[in-house]
Amino acid sequence: MPAARITGLGMYVPPRVVKNDELRRWFDTSDEWIYTRSGIQERRWVEEPASTAELGYYAAQSALAQADKSPQDLDLIIFATLSPDMYFPGSGVLLQHKLGLETTPALDIRQQCSGFIYGLSVANQFIRTGMYRTILLLGAEIQSTWIDYSPEGRTVGVLFGDGAGAAVIEATDSPGVGILSTHLYSQGAYARELCVAEPSSATRQHILPGSHGMRPYMNGKEVFRHAVQRMGEAIQAALSAQGWTAQEVNLYVLHQANIRIVQAVAEFFGLPMERFYNNIHKYGNTTAASIPICLTEAAQEGRLQRGHKVILAAFGSGFTWGSAALVW
Ligand code: COA
Repeated sequence: MPAARITGLGMYVPPRVVKNDELRRWFDTSDEWIYTRSGIQERRWVEEPASTAELGYYAAQSALAQADKSPQDLDLIIFATLSPDMYFPGSGVLLQHKLGLETTPALDIRQQCSGFIYGLSVANQFIRTGMYRTILLLGAEIQSTWIDYSPEGRTVGVLFGDGAGAAVIEATDSPGVGILSTHLYSQGAYARELCVAEPSSATRQHILPGSHGMRPYMNGKEVFRHAVQRMGEAIQAALSAQGWTAQEVNLYVLHQANIRIVQAVAEFFGLPMERFYNNIHKYGNTTAASIPICLTEAAQEGRLQRGHKVILAAFGSGFTWGSAALVW
């Protein structure tokens, strides 16, 4: 049975840097509040009009180049996003067309901050069964267009950023490398603790021209509490499945929602923060894009070497969460 291995990584963030202080144009907030509560110093925002598929396209080009692949080599595209270009169809088909492909299948994943882990698991299954050999996995988001810029929007609005990350995942016959296991979970009982409930198929409410039409809602404390507990459990599941100790893992890459969540998980396992790759200070929470953006930068900085034991974990709206254990 072939294994699945990440052979190319790429990222794209828009050039516009939005520092915490700039958010005071809309919100009663401060650099000090945002940084001490979340670890975020700045994030990237697109200049409108912009397209999530286009951000994904730039990241995909880098990942394909690194893997020495052309779009025609792809058997499947998996696109994880909570901010698709359209209500339907998903952004995967738009990216497929941008890549100049004719009929390559494209699958969208709606698992928010856990989207990349879910996508990795799907890619892993397709490759292990022998159905596909080369898969492009995207996490891409434009969130600056759904942020609620009214005063009530400040809790959510200061946390999120735009960006994209991509991974090329290929079949390999080398034993003991690549994606070794994934663990996925969800709990819809908490769907309303972090959501954008409108526009919705449940109502006939029409969005008036010029109105925002969306109201993101987040119960920050509840999300925080579950994120720490659930990512800890998912990491433990990955460790147990591999028979690894927490200490022998070379690098942990956790979804970047709040540096204090990562600190709490590190503390739980008795690990130093240096064992976790973080870049939330530069990009904020980029949802499905955060893990592949971290992986791209970690690889560029030499923090991911062949043979390294790596654990990825994410938690987000749904609630959804999960982990993946890899040998790089
Ligand atoms: N600027 C300034 N003050 C703000 C603010 C902002 N942007 N947002 C909220 N506040 C205020 C609140 O209104 C509250 O004021 P009050 O005490 O007068 O009522 C005060 O700051 C404290 O808010 P609180 O909710 O207690 O802060 P917190 O320490 O829980 O941190 C979050 C808030 C959102 C940073 C934190 O709960 C969090 O990160 N949660 C998880 C978020 C997450 O992971 N989301 C994505 C999941 S994928």
